[in-house]
Formats: sequence, C-alpha cells, structure tokens
Amino acid sequence: MAFRARAAVWMAGPRGSLRRAHALAASAGLAPKAVLPFEAIPQCPGNKWLRLLKIWREGAEDLHLQMQRTFQELGPIFRYDVGGRYMVHVMLPEDVEKLKQAEGSQPHRMVLEPWLAHRQHRGQKCGVFLLNGPTWRSDRLRLNPDVMSPQAVQKFVPMVDRVARDFSKALMARVLQNARGSLTVDIQPSIFYYTLEASNLVLFGERLGLLSQSPSPASLNFIHALQTMLKSTMQLMFMPRSLSRWTSPRVWKQHFEAWDYIFQYANNSIQKIYQELALGRPQHYSGIVSELLVHADMTLDAIKASSIDLTAGSVDTTAFPLLMTLFELARNPEVQQALRQESLQAEAKISENPQRANTELPLLRAALRETLRLYPVGITVERQVSSDLVLQNYHIPAGTLVIVQLYSLGRNPSVFPRPELYQPQRWLNSTSTTRLPHLAFGFGPRQCLGRRVAETEMLFLLHHVLKHFQVDTLTQEDINMVYRFVLMPSTLPLLTFRAIN
Ligand code: HEM
Repeated sequence: MAFRARAAVWMAGPRGSLRRAHALAASAGLAPKAVLPFEAIPQCPGNKWLRLLKIWREGAEDLHLQMQRTFQELGPIFRYDVGGRYMVHVMLPEDVEKLKQAEGSQPHRMVLEPWLAHRQHRGQKCGVFLLNGPTWRSDRLRLNPDVMSPQAVQKFVPMVDRVARDFSKALMARVLQNARGSLTVDIQPSIFYYTLEASNLVLFGERLGLLSQSPSPASLNFIHALQTMLKSTMQLMFMPRSLSRWTSPRVWKQHFEAWDYIFQYANNSIQKIYQELALGRPQHYSGIVSELLVHADMTLDAIKASSIDLTAGSVDTTAFPLLMTLFELARNPEVQQALRQESLQAEAKISENPQRANTELPLLRAALRETLRLYPVGITVERQVSSDLVLQNYHIPAGTLVIVQLYSLGRNPSVFPRPELYQPQRWLNSTSTTRLPHLAFGFGPRQCLGRRVAETEMLFLLHHVLKHFQVDTLTQEDINMVYRFVLMPSTLPLLTFRAIN
C-alpha cells in the first residue's frame, strides 16, 4: 500500500487531478466507465515546431529526463508532438501488456528517416530494422532460426566464451605489469574492442585480434563511424527531410559518410565469407552470416541488408550496459562479491560445457536485467498500432504512434520499489504473479533480433572478469547519462582492476 501511495504522489503533479481521480478509481478497483476521447489525453505543453528548433540547436541529450519529468507532471499517459511527428507516450506495464495483446504478426515501428534516406540514395535494400509489413515478417522469420533460436545460441556460445576468456587474460597481463597487481584505467575502449571482437566472430566467423594487439585503423574507424552515425541520427530524426536538407547539410554529410563506412566494413566481411563458401561448405560452424548464406532461404541482397543491421547494432548496444554493470558492481561491492561467488562456484561446470552459463549464473543474469532497467540502451520501444485500443481509459485510434518510455518505467517506484538502488536480487524474488517487466529488448515477435548475441556477450565477459578481478571505483555519485539515439554515459570514472589470486 505504501508503494502505491508513493507511486500516486510520483505520478501526480500540479495538473494531475484527472489522473489522480483515475489512479484512485483504479486502485479501488473501480475503473472509470466511459472511455475518454483521444483529444482528452493530456498534452505536453509547448509548440511542436519550437521543440524541434530546440532539438536542432541544442540536441536532446536529456530527452529521457524530460520525459520522466513530464510523466510526473501529467500522469502515466501524454501526447507529445515534435516537428511533423505525433506520438502518445506511456510508461506503465499494464499499457505495454495491452500493446502486446493488440499487436498482430507484423508489429509496425516508425520509419527512421535518416537511415531510410541513406538506403534510398545508395540504392540499397532495407534490412529488418527498417522494414515493416509482410517483407519484414518474411525476412524476420528466416533470420530467427540462425540468429535467435536455442540451436543458434548453442553454436555461438563457445565462440563468445573464447573471446571473453581472452579478454580476461589480456587484462590480467596488463594488471600484472604493475608491481601492485592492480590497474586503474578507462576501460571503455577495451570493452568496445571486446564487443567488436566477439560480435565479429559470431557474425562473420573471424577473429580480428583486437584484444592482443593494437587495434587496426579499420576497426577504430568502424567504431568511430558507428558513433557518428548514432549521434547524427539523433540530430536528424525529428526533422522532415525536406527541411533538414537545408538546415543541416553538414550533419547529413556526416551521417551518409558514416553509413557508407559501416556498409563497406560489413560488405568486406560478407564478401570474404561468400568467397570461402564458393570453395565449399565450411566443415565447422563459422558464424551467423555463413549459416544464412548456406541455408539460402533469403536472397543475397536481403541477407546483406539484415547483416548490415546486425553489424551496426552489435557494438555500442552491448558495450554500454557492460560498462554500466562494471561501474555499478564497483560501487556496490557486496553485490559484486555475491556475483563472484556464483561465478567461482559455476566455473567448473561452465568450463566443461559453456552452454551451462545460462542456467548456472542466475544472479549474473539478474544483474544484467537490473543494469538494463536503470540504463536501457534504447530508451523507448515504439509501435504504430494497427487497431483501435484503450490505454489508461483513453481511446487510441489505429495508426497512432505509441512510445513506451523504458527509462521512466524502470525508475517508477510503483513498479520497482526503491528504484534508485542497484538490486539484482529483486529479479530473482519476483514470482509468476509479481513478475517484473523486462522490456529492454522490446517485446513480441519484433523484439531485438540480436538479443541472444548481446546477452551471451555480456554474461561471459562479466563471468570471466569477476572470477579474476576485484573492480573498484572512487566514485559513488550517479553517472550522467546522455541520449544520442542510444543511452550512454557522458563520461565514465576510472575503474581499478585488482587481480584475485
Ligand atoms: C543490450 C543490448 C541491446 C539492447 C538493449 C537492444 C534493444 C533493442 C530494442 C529495444 C529493439 C526494438 C525491439 C522492438 O521494437 O520490440 C531492438 C531491435 C533490434 N536489435 Fe537490438 N538491442 C541490443 C543489442 C543488439 C545486438 C547485439 C544486435 C545485433 C547483433 C541487435 C540488433 C537488432 C536488430 C537487427 C533489431 C531490429 C529487429 C526487428 O525490427 O525485427 N541488437 N534492439
């Protein structure tokens, strides 16, 4: 009850009387009867074109915080329009449930204009990230078995295990170079090399050698291109293309050049596999793209297009939650110790059979959920609804773009008591009736295609690092997170890795 009351205070604001009435009615089990029209949904104050101008001038790095404040003022649903886009924002699990139930076999996401413009200009096919409708569905159904199925995961788990062990060994070599047996370091570049090394092996069956030697200019340029692409996406995504052509030609140029580099990088890798396959089928598993080419269920262009999506989605998305987990464990030593104990106990079984990591490391898996609750990489999941529905007792007509704000959901005390605390255990305590919503990878048939790759990379890296190192930080304060199409730390404190003998 106490949490409910606190949640009501958190949601209600100066303009919260109508919402308060609904919240009270709902908490008393009395759902208000008449469904209210769409127009009655509280609207975020401000002009949609001025808002666009502000984003254009200053960016929207604090968008996640702005949204959280708006929920606190207006309640759990509001309309927020920016430039030519009209959207309804929600943040309660019950609304996500309704969206899930209403979505059919072809969930529709908003078209990401800057990415689409690049594909159109370059005469390239779109991969699943940008597709909608029947083409999305048929491509996605063909990709799932080689990317997401338990059989596929079984095949790439040993690859990720190897890369994570190598990461831990390389880190140990650096630590032992110091007489004190510890290393204080900005770990961000190393984590990026790890995610690139692991993803490249899983996708293309090739080691890049990023962990043992200085990274090649091609890999560095690729990481740089990904970051430029994400940043410029944010600057361009809300503005109609016809307008931004005139206002932001420099940003468009950067955006296209970054994508060109990503395409070139992925195409080189695909080409290599293609040539090897021309010489004969591989004797061993050699990655997801090779499997897609061997199975030949899709056209070569379709495989290329979705492989580009997988390549582009594979590095930053996984690197940031890894960094934030290391930081949270460094400032929560008792949680770190519990995870280390779990990892040490499980090591013999995992060494024998890496597949067992999934069942033997429940607390570590819970820690990853906890990190993604506080720091969801994608701060939203969106759906353009295909049929009318009712959310928070308001009518939502078919065609409306509904945005689920994951950042606000993850920090809502009525859903996650004491949301400010890093408590992986909360995920293990939840039962089937009190199941906590884990939505960082989206939901339903359109959920993240790279989910299993990401989970495996994160799980193995942390498992091997925790066995061998104590991680410390001098910083106890929260880290400032910025939204640049993905949510990332603006800066990370140095972390100290101490060898455990
Ligand atoms: C922690 C890491 C990651 C998070 C939190 C994440 C999150 C998401 C989310 C929220 C979506 C939208 C899902 C929806 O609309 O329901 C998505 C889609 C997607 N993600 Fe990820 N992702 C991660 C890692 C990856 C990785 C490693 C890859 C590639 C290997 C990847 C590839 C994709 C692709 C291709 C889609 C589009 C799927 C479709 O529309 O059918 N993601 N991701």
